[in-house]
Amino acid sequence: MNLIRRPRRNRQSGAIRDMVQETRLSVTDFILPVFIMEGQNVRSEVASMPGIYRLSLDLLLDEIQECVDLGIKTFDLFPNLPEAKKDKYATESYNPDGMYLQAIRAIKDKFPDVMVMTDVAMDPYSSDGHDGIVENGKILNDPTLDVLGKMALAQAQAGANIVGPSDMMDGRVGYIRQVLDEGGFHDVAIMSYSAKYASAFYGPFRDALDSAPKFGDKKTYQMNPANSREALIEAQLDFAEGADFLMVKPALSYLDIIKLLNDTYHLPIAAYNVSGEYAMIKAAAQQGWLDGERAMMEVLLSIKRAGASVILTYFAKEAARLL
Ligand code: PBG
Repeated sequence: MNLIRRPRRNRQSGAIRDMVQETRLSVTDFILPVFIMEGQNVRSEVASMPGIYRLSLDLLLDEIQECVDLGIKTFDLFPNLPEAKKDKYATESYNPDGMYLQAIRAIKDKFPDVMVMTDVAMDPYSSDGHDGIVENGKILNDPTLDVLGKMALAQAQAGANIVGPSDMMDGRVGYIRQVLDEGGFHDVAIMSYSAKYASAFYGPFRDALDSAPKFGDKKTYQMNPANSREALIEAQLDFAEGADFLMVKPALSYLDIIKLLNDTYHLPIAAYNVSGEYAMIKAAAQQGWLDGERAMMEVLLSIKRAGASVILTYFAKEAARLL
């Protein structure tokens, strides 16, 4: 047959496939989320996230060294706090002697070139397990901003490079930007969780932090998975309020949202390949039901192809080894 177009010609060898490859992963795309807990020499595996550990600060510093040697330069820090340190107003989140702020200082001290990203949300510190102040079963928006501002400022003072508001309260990016600027932290960036959906895929993360909501769900602040036009409203606000990065979370069921934001905004787009997305691949691979490494690389590539130039992923270390 004389076919004028034979797309298979460009797939006939490894060399030609490499040449025409449109998207390539690089270790510099990755941010590794890490879980810190109190104590010394503590390494506690998250049951639903094989290969992921809650680490005490001493071991976390060793872990960061290993990752830096693999080329990973940015870490997103999450705290697992004992229930006794949690309260209604998440006050531990801005206690300068608290584990989290100490960890930021220690990491920046030991690794000045590493970028520390923080999580700005009440849930790991909240006795209600919610991302906002709870009153009569309602999550209050504006009073929560005050807590988020204190938290972000304390993190910046401890040396954070990027703060990551992950709570979905209205107006938080603008409020945090103002607080940071008034504090002289003009260079601290905001990576806003712009389109964060109320997702079942956060389950393992809440195990890792013991941060599941004590009542109800997060649907009055996180987005409805059915909506994409609403993501544009959220992104538009975050852009206007001064966000430096727009994030979509989770990643895999929301590749269309990643593309939508990437096509619409000229800021870097980040995607959070969340705990449940990690757990699914790990569980299937453990069963021998799929090739875990190939599935991991395919998933990460798909997130980048969709338009994310920054990928937060628990696979960062494993993927870095393969790249
Ligand atoms: C909440 C927060 C969540 C994650 C990070 N910060 C989700 C939630 O509990 O609502 C999830 C990350 C993951 O699943 O990997 N502030």
